[in-house]
Amino acid sequence: MAKDKTTAFFCKECGYESAKWYGMCPSCHAYNSMVEAPKENKRSAAGTMRMGGKAIPRRLEEISTENAPRIGTGSEELDRVLGGGILPGSLILTGGDPGIGKSTLLLQVFRNLALQGHKVLYISGEESLRQLKLRADRIGTFEGDISFLCDTDLDRIEEVLREEKPEAVVIDSIQTMARSDIASAPGSPAQVRECTGLLLTLAKSLNISIFIIGHVTKDGTVAGPRLLEHMVDTVLYFEGDRHASYRILRAVKNRFGATGEIGVFEMTAAGLMEVPNPSAFMLSGRPENTSGSVITGIMEGTRPLLLEVQALLSRTNYGMGRRTAAGIDYNRVALLLAVMEKRLGLSLSDCDAYVNITGGLKLNDPSVDLAVVLAMYSSYRDLPIGGDTVVFGEVGLSGEIRSVPMMKERLQEAARLGFSTAILPKSALRPDIAAKGMRLIGVADLREAIQAIHKE
Ligand code: TYD
Ligand code: MG
Repeated sequence: MAKDKTTAFFCKECGYESAKWYGMCPSCHAYNSMVEAPKENKRSAAGTMRMGGKAIPRRLEEISTENAPRIGTGSEELDRVLGGGILPGSLILTGGDPGIGKSTLLLQVFRNLALQGHKVLYISGEESLRQLKLRADRIGTFEGDISFLCDTDLDRIEEVLREEKPEAVVIDSIQTMARSDIASAPGSPAQVRECTGLLLTLAKSLNISIFIIGHVTKDGTVAGPRLLEHMVDTVLYFEGDRHASYRILRAVKNRFGATGEIGVFEMTAAGLMEVPNPSAFMLSGRPENTSGSVITGIMEGTRPLLLEVQALLSRTNYGMGRRTAAGIDYNRVALLLAVMEKRLGLSLSDCDAYVNITGGLKLNDPSVDLAVVLAMYSSYRDLPIGGDTVVFGEVGLSGEIRSVPMMKERLQEAARLGFSTAILPKSALRPDIAAKGMRLIGVADLREAIQAIHKE
């Protein structure tokens, strides 16, 4: 007879499942962490669902897609990130550092949904009703069918959802939720996975859109949202420097839309405000006519975003120069410095080099290479680069300037913000990229780029 393969034990720490008991978990090496799985566990095993009735395979023509209009969230930025609004019955994970504004964002969205006449429910396991009300008072007046519940027992919450049948629900946060038939503590991987599995079943079978809030934590005791990314339809991450006021909402997974789209918000005393013009926001307060500052642009999804690269090069008194990079890969800066030494004949090894992307953005886009090089050069020679100039281009190891995608969109954004000169890869110079009022200077290698800024 075939062996029964069903899971009988699982690890309390990492959620590892096995048919055998181990003294030490083979996956996370924790001792004494394997516990027997409760019997019902099989039914609710994360990610599986039964809508009831017999299983019948269907052909594509037989599947109707009609009754799935998107629900607008009342926030243009969020709608774009979601791919045009909320799809009924979808499970959406919103992750981010504690205190970044996840609860605030979703409370505002649910306020909008209620104002539009939707029935919504906000469930908090973190805050008391009084705290929720204090937060709500900061955001504005609430009208319509929105109610609040403070609970952490997911089995009780299931009953409420089956009875009330709201159209959309917030679970704030998944780390505080627990099912009574799971032995481990709230926030443990097994608990987080089981709870998400139940929420997935509820979202699909009751056609409720469920927003799950998940904290990203550095220490391993609380299971982070990464653990449940594969189970949900959409994963949004809320990023930004907690000390800076702006926040970026990014879709990293979306079964119903494009990923890579971002929404930009600003945290104010009255909640999160949309920033419809993020480039202007990023560039506000930049210095005029100082060396070491260069404007460039990156693509975030379909949207261009202009930003400032700053560099400071100074002779060191201690032999080898130090290199520091904020917002950009340290190794990339070291590589660009080496290319500058070799191809421009500069001696930079005894220079301290500091590179900073303003606004706290983290970049992983080679199209800012040329801007980083020119910012470092500008600081080295103490030569300011014109305040109306933008720079695009990737730098290759032999000093060549390589083309970057979506040149037209980047140039249009720069022209819209009043820039009049662009230094860009020669290979990208095509008639179709022309932007109104913009002078284009194509450069093939680093030497030509340096000549271009000396002429400016
Ligand atoms: P919060 O939504 O509680 O963060 P999270 O749910 O991600 O942990 O927001 C946290 C911060 O936002 C908090 O420090 C206070 C600030 N805040 C404002 O600045 N303005 C506001 O209107 C609100 C509601 C919060
Ligand atoms: Mg919160």
